[in-house]
Formats: sequence, structure tokens, C-alpha cells
Amino acid sequence: MVVEQLKVGFDNFSYVIYCSKKKEAAIVDPSYDATKALDFISSNNLKLIYIILTHHHSDHSGDTHRIKNLYPSLKIISSKSDEEKLGFTIDFYVSDNDELKVGDVSLDFILTPGHTKDGICIIVDNESILTGDTLFIGDCGRTDLPGGSFEQMFKTLQEKIKPLSDNLIVFPGHDYGNKPFDTLGNQKKTNRVLIANNLEEFSKIP
Ligand SMILES: [Fe+2]
Repeated sequence: MVVEQLKVGFDNFSYVIYCSKKKEAAIVDPSYDATKALDFISSNNLKLIYIILTHHHSDHSGDTHRIKNLYPSLKIISSKSDEEKLGFTIDFYVSDNDELKVGDVSLDFILTPGHTKDGICIIVDNESILTGDTLFIGDCGRTDLPGGSFEQMFKTLQEKIKPLSDNLIVFPGHDYGNKPFDTLGNQKKTNRVLIANNLEEFSKIP
């Protein structure tokens, strides 16, 4: 396993992606308190090289500025949309199909707007996918906040998420489901937002 899932506060998930061999690590969504992530990194003698933000909301990005001050050489990564809402500088932007390495661990990025304009998902070693507030276990992120779009979320789920491999483990941005993670194949069969096949069905989900 190269992904460590950490519960922060009431229901946020923060993640550390790491390579035990090359001793490098990235935090995905430090949330508003990255203490657990930083403790995991130091207790495993890892070097933090990236903070990756699945989107700009403060419950995911809140502790980024503090960590950057602690580790000035690390790079902050997000998609370009909504950058101005973060209030700090992004070191580089990712787009669809961009790739990055953390040690020997491969990261593939996909743009997944819908919850926000700047939403991204990260596929790790073709084994798992960190979905932020795009896809939860049993649901998807809300679309009624600024920058959210109901139609865009449906398009993202249909065109970006559903075609991915059933074997991927979905690691969501919040602990809203009946389990903390699941296979995408199981979610395609059980998650109402993935079962909906057209916008009308999607619109009837309460
Ligand atoms: Fe969010």
C-alpha cells in the first residue's frame, strides 16, 4: 500500500502518498490540520516533496500555507481553475493526463469539475484513485456551492470516472459512506450517482 488514509476532524480524509524505497512523500489535501500527516511522514523518515490539492475548499487546503513555511522547498500542486481562491502561490498546475512521480510511485491526474471548477482526481500506481469531493462512497460532492455545476458533475462522473478500471480503490475526501474506501467496480454497482445513466435520473437523486 502506498496510500495512507488519515481521518482529520469529524469527517475529512487527508492522505499521504509515499515511496518506501526512495523515501519520498506527498500530502493530498492537508485539510485544516496536517499534524497526523506530518507525524506519519516523520515517523517513516520520508521527505515531503509535494502538497497536492484536490480542490480549493478550506477543509481540504487550510493547513497548506503553514506546511509550506515549515518545508519551503516542497511544491504545491493543483489545477489552474480557482487558484485565486487559495490565497497562496501554486508551484505548478496539473491538467488532464499529466503524470508525476513520488519516488517510484506514479500519479496520473484527471480534471473532474462539478463540485468546484478546479476539482482533480489522482490515480496512484493504477491501483487507487483519490477523488476529493468529486466522488464519495455512495454519493458525489454537492454542486450548489460557488463554481459547482450539477450538469458538469454528471458529465465528469460519466466521462471521467465511469470509464476507469473497476479494480481501482476509491479513496474519497470525506468519510460520508458506509465504509472509508471501496473498489470503483463496487461503487459503479451500488453508488446512486454512478448508477444514474442520464441527467434526468441524476436530477431525481435527493
Ligand atoms: Fe469541497
